[in-house]
Amino acid sequence: MSTAATTNAVLSARDLTRHYAVSRGLFKPHANVQALNGVSFELQAGKTLAVVGESGCGKSTLARALTLIEEPSSGSLQIAGQEVTGASKSQRKQLRRDVQMVFQSPFASLNPRQKIGDQLGEPLLINTPLSRVERRERVQAMMQQVGLRPEHYQRYPHMFSGGQRQRIALARAMMLNPKVLVADEPTSALDVSIQAQVLNLFMDLQEQFNTGYVFISHNLSVVRHVADDVLVMYLGRPVEMGPSERIYARPLHPYTQALLSATPTIHPDPAKPKIKISGELPNPLDPPSGCAFHQRCPYANERCHGEVPQLRLLDARQVACHHAERINS
Ligand SMILES: Nc1ncnc2c1ncn2[C@@H]1O[C@H](COP(=O)(O)OP(=O)(O)OP(=O)(O)O)[C@@H](O)[C@H]1O
Ligand SMILES: [Mg+2]
Repeated sequence: MSTAATTNAVLSARDLTRHYAVSRGLFKPHANVQALNGVSFELQAGKTLAVVGESGCGKSTLARALTLIEEPSSGSLQIAGQEVTGASKSQRKQLRRDVQMVFQSPFASLNPRQKIGDQLGEPLLINTPLSRVERRERVQAMMQQVGLRPEHYQRYPHMFSGGQRQRIALARAMMLNPKVLVADEPTSALDVSIQAQVLNLFMDLQEQFNTGYVFISHNLSVVRHVADDVLVMYLGRPVEMGPSERIYARPLHPYTQALLSATPTIHPDPAKPKIKISGELPNPLDPPSGCAFHQRCPYANERCHGEVPQLRLLDARQVACHHAERINS
């Protein structure tokens, strides 16, 4: 991943923003929430970009923009080199097929009144000329790949466990072999004991289909073993982004450091100081001046109050902190 244009990215976002006008009450002017504020990245086929950050930092807003559920307020988005803004209706229809989504709650994407086999076959029915028999064969092959048994074909969503339902949602998202899969907290509603199984299934399918993944989680430890690149967001802005191994080995932004210190590890390193984030995420309707993190940052000074830090290259990743060198030397 890099922000420089490379040729075969399956997904390329450039300075994406999304704001929402929210009502503050009768007779008061609307306020603007900057839910997404300048996100750029490139994703290659077969790779995973993990997007992490606290609740409300804009992860789902980004997911909705990437899957064409919502239009970004500005910025550009390319799917396999094709620009989304300005695409015709029929082009958008094709682009929607190329980017599929898996939600936190599998109920959100499954129809309670339709048999699983029919639900999995539906994308094929709508988008391909395959016959009934061929569709059934494809569905059964996919069901086997995600660990479902042939007799599950005739069952309804409520007859499955949470883990099985997430397998079904994943199977459905993969039916048309999309170029990109955006998964928004796909394992956080599941029992810890089955989270790893479902994560492994995501990875198996990625290897087989060479799909690019955008994997969203509020938990850095969940994505550690699946991410090639990590994008850490804070109040709608990227604060650190780069290769996963660099960020986990040596996070440079105080916010990433704090997120990582909050993650339990089996062998805690006594040499690494624990950083605690104090306070709440600021009100997005009234964001702080300067660096959005400054009120909670142990290193903040005058400059952080006044000047928004831009992403810049440092130690093989991008980081948006005025003091990244000083605090990491
Ligand atoms: N339709 C909307 N109208 C107004 N504000 C919105 C809308 N959708 C999201 N927001 C606001 O945008 C910000 C980002 O929300 P978003 O759902 O993207 O966060 P998130 O990172 O996915 O959080 P979580 O981890 O809780 O899912 C929040 O302040 C939220 O209140
Ligand atoms: Mg969300």
